[in-house]
Amino acid sequence: MNIAHRQFDTLIIGAGGGGLRAALQLSQADAHVAVVSKVFPTRSHTVAAQGGVNAALANVRPDNWHWHMFDTVKGSDYLGDQDAIEYMCRAAPKAVYELEHYGVPFSRQDDGRIYQRQFGGQSMNFGGEQAARTCAAADRTGHAILHSLYQQNIRARTHFFDEYFAVDLLNDADGQALGALVLDIATGELLVIEAKTTLLATGGAGQIFRTNTNALINTGDGMAMSLRAGVPLQDMEFFQFHPTGIAGKGMLLSEGARGEGGYLVNNEGERFMERYAPNAKDLASRDVVSRAIVTEVREGRGCGPNKDHVLLTLNHLDSDMIKKRLPAIRDMALTFAGVDMCDTPVPVFPTAHYTMGGIPTNRFGEVVAPIAHGPEEAIPGLYAAGECACVSVHGGNRLGGNSLLDIIVFGRAAGNQIIDFLAENKYHRPLRDEVVEPVLERLARWDKQGEGESVDAMRNELTRTMEEHCGVFRTEDVLKEGVGKVQALAARMPDVRLRDHSRVFNTARIEALELENLMDVAIATIMSAWKRHESRGAHSRIDYPDRDDVNWLRHSLYHRH
Ligand code: FUM
Repeated sequence: MNIAHRQFDTLIIGAGGGGLRAALQLSQADAHVAVVSKVFPTRSHTVAAQGGVNAALANVRPDNWHWHMFDTVKGSDYLGDQDAIEYMCRAAPKAVYELEHYGVPFSRQDDGRIYQRQFGGQSMNFGGEQAARTCAAADRTGHAILHSLYQQNIRARTHFFDEYFAVDLLNDADGQALGALVLDIATGELLVIEAKTTLLATGGAGQIFRTNTNALINTGDGMAMSLRAGVPLQDMEFFQFHPTGIAGKGMLLSEGARGEGGYLVNNEGERFMERYAPNAKDLASRDVVSRAIVTEVREGRGCGPNKDHVLLTLNHLDSDMIKKRLPAIRDMALTFAGVDMCDTPVPVFPTAHYTMGGIPTNRFGEVVAPIAHGPEEAIPGLYAAGECACVSVHGGNRLGGNSLLDIIVFGRAAGNQIIDFLAENKYHRPLRDEVVEPVLERLARWDKQGEGESVDAMRNELTRTMEEHCGVFRTEDVLKEGVGKVQALAARMPDVRLRDHSRVFNTARIEALELENLMDVAIATIMSAWKRHESRGAHSRIDYPDRDDVNWLRHSLYHRH
């Protein structure tokens, strides 16, 4: 097959904040960079991040990066890697000022300094009073960051392949990354992008769950590509459920709502978080608040005719403040819950939000893993950053406001590491046809129609199964049954039917490829959850209720084989 080839120093797959921050670092250093994105870059999911980015600027209350580090280690339920956490928290103030200089319009205090709101799990003085560390651009912080980074990349002449889908990584026999096979979604044409270095920045995989805060595009593509390339995934059992999704629908209502003074009540009007976390209350860490809400509902104290949610109350707050600080989530509640939070509480329930696990990397963004049971080693030329990566700074539970920080700090770090690699590796390694052929064979499967269930039906069944079997509270029997169900679903994949039975459009083919990725990531998630016999952070096992540091203070690795 005659496929066009293009050559770049670096291929970045994914145009969210992590990919764009790395691309900027590289383009500014005169590297020749290609960014492949399956959507127009400013539609990447970073655009949806609401509440803000953490940095110990001490603009509102005293602060210190050591306190930030302490909170992040504690919030991770001690699973986070402390070298990486230290690096991130120290780098945070500089990273935020850099964003400001790129043009991010942060909200201001009266004295002109960047506004910082209170978020969950933040403290002053190592576990003391609530801190105010989250730098916000109203409740559209991710939107502001993504647009600024995109504009800076245009200025730095980063090359964008908009609406191209990355099918698979291309590696030579020694495991060295050589680039990827990508597909132009509009025309269906294939392109081999040869690159001396490849960075995966494809974001999370919230779409493995039915109710989630994630964009439809968050199908774990980079994680699945890594698995197919023989790279294991780390700590996949740790999936964060955000406490305040719009009930039944899942859209995010920022923690900023509680940071600005909102609180949760049950059907007795009780501020129940006072019972579960007497100090931090509604600003306890997300795993704690999510479990509390589910417990309230299970014990019959839920609200509404079906008693299946609790209420987020803001109507005691000044409505001008809500309109100024939380305009987007007010709109969201109006549109999807039909209520104005200025005068009516909003029905909320935990919703799948963030993939703490992912492609194992060190703090320089290098993918470091044991391949096929060999020793752990850095895979030459392969990097990952952002939600698809597991550095690991979030461990068992991420603190709100640390995800935007993660993508900015480690996107930049990966960019710097790649610059060093390029200085020592000046030439492209040869990419032979045999490397591309297996990927073409996988793709060719979707040129013909199966006679089985549709892609849509399979995706719905997968996400329902994950919701029922791998939710906030987990047990052996439920997980084991879920593993069996997801594996059975995956076994039905070869016969799956594309959306349009008479003609195969590229979008239908992309949906099938995304479903394959979702399957792989879902199995990794539920299998890892089944095998971890303790409760830590967001992984809460009713049958193993305690944290078990003796046996389980360690990362898990899931290999596809
Ligand atoms: O609640 C939020 O605004 C979400 C922030 C985050 O996940 O970091």
